Amino acid sequence: MDSTGKNIRLTLTGASHAPEVGFTLEGIPRGTVIDMDALRADIRRRSAAAHPNSTPRRETDDFSIRSGIADGIADGSQISFAFPNRAHDSSAYNLVARPSHADYAAYTKYGGNVDIRGGGKYSGRMTLPLVAAGSICRGILSRRGIDIFGHVLRIGAVSDERFDAMLDKRPPMDELFPLVDGSVKAAMERAMADARSRGDTLSCEAECAVTGLPTGLGEPLFDSVEGTLSKLLFMIPGLRGVEFGEDRILGSRMNDQFTDGGRTLTNHSGGVNGGMTNGQPLIFRCWFRPIPSIALPQTGFDLQKGVPVPLTISGRHDVCILPRGLVAVECAAAIGLLDLIME
Ligand SMILES: Cc1cc2nc3c(=O)[nH]c(=O)nc-3n(C[C@H](O)[C@H](O)[C@H](O)COP(=O)(O)O)c2cc1C
Repeated sequence: MDSTGKNIRLTLTGASHAPEVGFTLEGIPRGTVIDMDALRADIRRRSAAAHPNSTPRRETDDFSIRSGIADGIADGSQISFAFPNRAHDSSAYNLVARPSHADYAAYTKYGGNVDIRGGGKYSGRMTLPLVAAGSICRGILSRRGIDIFGHVLRIGAVSDERFDAMLDKRPPMDELFPLVDGSVKAAMERAMADARSRGDTLSCEAECAVTGLPTGLGEPLFDSVEGTLSKLLFMIPGLRGVEFGEDRILGSRMNDQFTDGGRTLTNHSGGVNGGMTNGQPLIFRCWFRPIPSIALPQTGFDLQKGVPVPLTISGRHDVCILPRGLVAVECAAAIGLLDLIME
C-alpha cells in the first residue's frame, strides 16, 4: 500500500525515474496556514546539493501544488504536490539486480512488471514527498507547542553524545549537520571521505526528540506511539531499526521515579509507557544500513537469464544516509504524531 494513516491520510506517488514523485495528504483542517519557508527549508535539508559528501544527482526539488492550498492556506480538501524528476540517468540501469537493493525482491514479486530504475519507488528519492508532507504536519504540531528535532548520533564508528533525555532545553545545533557535540563533525566527515576513497559505504544512526506532547497520546493496543511512528519510519529506505528510550540491564536503573505533578526524575523510558506518551520528551533512535551501492566489484543477478553476474555499480552515490536522511526521520514522526493527535 502506498497510503497510510487514519485521521491524517498520506499517499506517496511516483518513483525514482518516473516523470515525478509526489504526495497527497488528507485531513489537514481548512484554514491551516502552511509555512512555505519552513517547508522549503526542510526540503533543502534533504537535498543532495546541501550535503557535499552525497550523491551528485542534483535535483532542483522544485514542486507544483496541485490542490488543497490557496495563497498559503489549506482549503480543507486533499493537498497534493508534485516534484518533477529531471536529473536522473536511466541509461546506467539494466535488468541486473544490485546486491541488497530492492531490485530482486520487487522484480520477483511483480513478475517483472515493475519500474526498478534507480530503485523505483524503493529509492531514497521517495523521502522528498515524505519530507514535504511531514513538514506541513510539523508546522501544525509546532503551533501546538510540539517541537521535533534530531541529530546525527553515529556515522560509521564515530559517535556523537546522546540527548540528555530530560531535554530541559533544546541544544543549539547546526541545521544541516546537527550534533549535540559539534566537535565530532570533522571525524564523521573524515570517516565518510575514507569510506568513499575505499569504494565503500557506512552505517549510521539518528536520534530524534519530541517535546511538548500531551500525556496519553497513542491508542493501545495496535495504534501505539511506537507502532504508529515505526510504520512511517520504516518507509525510509535503508532504515533497519527503531528503538525508544534506553536499554538498561537492571529495572532499578531503568525505572523513572516520580516527583511532583506526575513528572519523573529521569526519562529512561524515552517518554512512552504502554504505547502512550507519559509527559516526558519522546526519544527514539533509528539506525540505517550502509548504502548498498558500493563502488567495489560485486555479484549481481541477471533477472532475465536467472544467473549471477559480475557487477560494478557506476556513478557516485551517497556514502551514508545521514545527515541527508535526518529530516525524513523528523518528518515521518510528525505525520504519525499528528495522526494520533487528530483522533
Ligand atoms: C536520503 C537517502 C539517500 C539514499 N541514497 C542512496 C544512494 O545514493 N545510493 C543507494 O544505493 N542507496 C541510497 N539510499 C538507500 C537505498 O534507497 C536503500 O538502501 C535501498 O532502496 C534498499 O532498501 P532497504 O535498505 O530499506 O532494504 C538512500 C536512502 C535515503 C533515505
